[in-house]
Amino acid sequence: MNPKEILAKIAEETATCEKCELHYSRKHAVPGEGPADAEIMLIGEGPGFHENEQGRPFVGAAGKFLDELLTLIDLKREDVFITNVVKCRPPGNRDPKPEELAACSDYLERQIHAINPKVIVTLGRFSMLRFLPNAKIGQIHGQAMSIRGRLVVPMYHPAAALHQRSLKPIIEADFKKLPELIQKTDTIIEYQEEEHKRKDEPKQLSMF
Ligand code: URA
Ligand code: SF4
Repeated sequence: MNPKEILAKIAEETATCEKCELHYSRKHAVPGEGPADAEIMLIGEGPGFHENEQGRPFVGAAGKFLDELLTLIDLKREDVFITNVVKCRPPGNRDPKPEELAACSDYLERQIHAINPKVIVTLGRFSMLRFLPNAKIGQIHGQAMSIRGRLVVPMYHPAAALHQRSLKPIIEADFKKLPELIQKTDTIIEYQEEEHKRKDEPKQLSMF
């Protein structure tokens, strides 16, 4: 299967997936969308009300702001792949539970493999924690980290910036750094994974 076919297969699987309890209340799974050869992959938290209605990621207020952020760097939604760490809406937009994140993780992992993006932008805490388990968003937002050879840039969630206006210029400034970060991969800090690893984790644990 080529990357496009793999992505289509993943979308098909999520539509009928019953691997966690989020399937009970979903209307539509939201597998994510964008080109199979996207250089930039944006990973949010989970579908909200509008996403659950439409089966598409970031179509509500946060999505509108995300479109504005992409425009700042001359990108359109069609240029990037957008998805979430959980593909079905947590009821009432509650936080995804650890067992839901674990159950859904394989879909995201396969999407990352298929797309092989140059850079992954994590939007919000749950997405960041998947790659940077002990990181604090206030300390590392907008900084590019090289994690096993792949660039990961943690950002605040666009919805957070809508609720807390002081975050708006911060997330805008972080987005504006993206084009340069993609060009200058040699200046990127290698994330000290060992320091953040729990002692009982297997050595070969792959994050991708
Ligand atoms: N918030 C997210 O994290 N993801 C979406 O798809 C929409 C809102
Ligand atoms: Fe399956 Fe993920 Fe939906 Fe849970 S959130 S039912 S694991 S697709």
